[in-house]
Amino acid sequence: MTLRSTPLSPGARILGVGAYEPSRVVTNEDLLARLDSSDEWIRQRTGIVERRWATPDETVTVMAAEASRRALAHAGLDAGAVDAIVVSTVTRFVQWPAIASRVAAALGIPSVAAFDLSAGCAGFCYALAQADALVRAGTAGHVLVIAADRLSDMTDLADRSTAFLFGDGAGAVVVGPSAQPGIGPVTWGGDADQADTITQTQEWTDALASGTMPYIVMAGQKVFKWAMTEITDVTRRAIEAAGLTPADIDLFVPHQANDRITDALLRYLKLPESVVVSRNIRRLGNTSASSIPLGIARLYADGLVRPDAACLMVGFGAGLVYAGQVALLPAGAPGTVPGPVNPPIPPNPLNP
Ligand code: UT7
Repeated sequence: MTLRSTPLSPGARILGVGAYEPSRVVTNEDLLARLDSSDEWIRQRTGIVERRWATPDETVTVMAAEASRRALAHAGLDAGAVDAIVVSTVTRFVQWPAIASRVAAALGIPSVAAFDLSAGCAGFCYALAQADALVRAGTAGHVLVIAADRLSDMTDLADRSTAFLFGDGAGAVVVGPSAQPGIGPVTWGGDADQADTITQTQEWTDALASGTMPYIVMAGQKVFKWAMTEITDVTRRAIEAAGLTPADIDLFVPHQANDRITDALLRYLKLPESVVVSRNIRRLGNTSASSIPLGIARLYADGLVRPDAACLMVGFGAGLVYAGQVALLPAGAPGTVPGPVNPPIPPNPLNP
């Protein structure tokens, strides 16, 4: 017996990009009341000048839905064109339903396929790879890929090793069929032996008993070293997998974990001087998987994305897991890509 399969699409590509940045700006100085640190140390070691924390009303679902609306507007599509929604998040405070189902309801498309994915700060690249495969396999026409997190809820503000790092936000892209491949093969994997390198202080069941949140705990130096050794190679392989060379790359949007990791990746990859590099960490901190779509949206807002720009992305984090790929970006439609309030990226003389 032979079963029928779905008609394949020759390619998939990103059709629209959207982002949501929470309204509340938190400077390094704001953190110092509870943290034994300094503005100078935080800038020097990470590049971060400020981050944004969501207000109680800016839930993961609210931010995800708003980023999606903006991505759909950029793509020129109605929500009704969406067949599937995948949300990468590590800050789900309900076990069920999936955030993706809540987003589907918020967008007025309750009948779509919807699921969440947990791959730490690599989650956006993982989800984009799923969307690419779903569209090329003919399983879905248009897929909303969303990354959304409220890391501020899970950050111990007195923990010197994490309190200054994290911020909140959401980013989304719409992926749809195309005549040519517009999303390169994903280079992904991990090192599960280091699963405890980024984890939480306690399980939710213990949190219930103790009445305290399970906060993020991270062996920062270990992750830093892993990123320096593993992620450089992963990023190079993502370029090769797309059949490109560093000279073909227009935009580089690595996970915004630390400006110094971005610097190391740049040194290793020898990308041309002309490549536009995301430094969004300076104004948003580390927003986990959202940092890549937030970084891309920011480049649009700054007018730095030409049509069909080749955007190199790499995400890495809890698991430890990583994923990277190159994707071509659509032309920017002024007024449809956010965003919110876009003060310039603060210069950082301490980490130029
Ligand atoms: O998004 C998921 C993936 N995450 C990452 O990729 C994070 C990777 N790791 C990092 O970005 C860095 O490890 C951190 C930014 C988290 C920390 O920077 P570091 O350069 O690795 O700092 P460290 O822990 O090695 O500490 C260096 C020094 C120590 O002082 P001594 O022993 O040299 O005198 C610490 O006590 O800095 C001190 N220190 C601080 N000083 C001021 C540690 N934390 C702080 C602080 N403020 N918050």
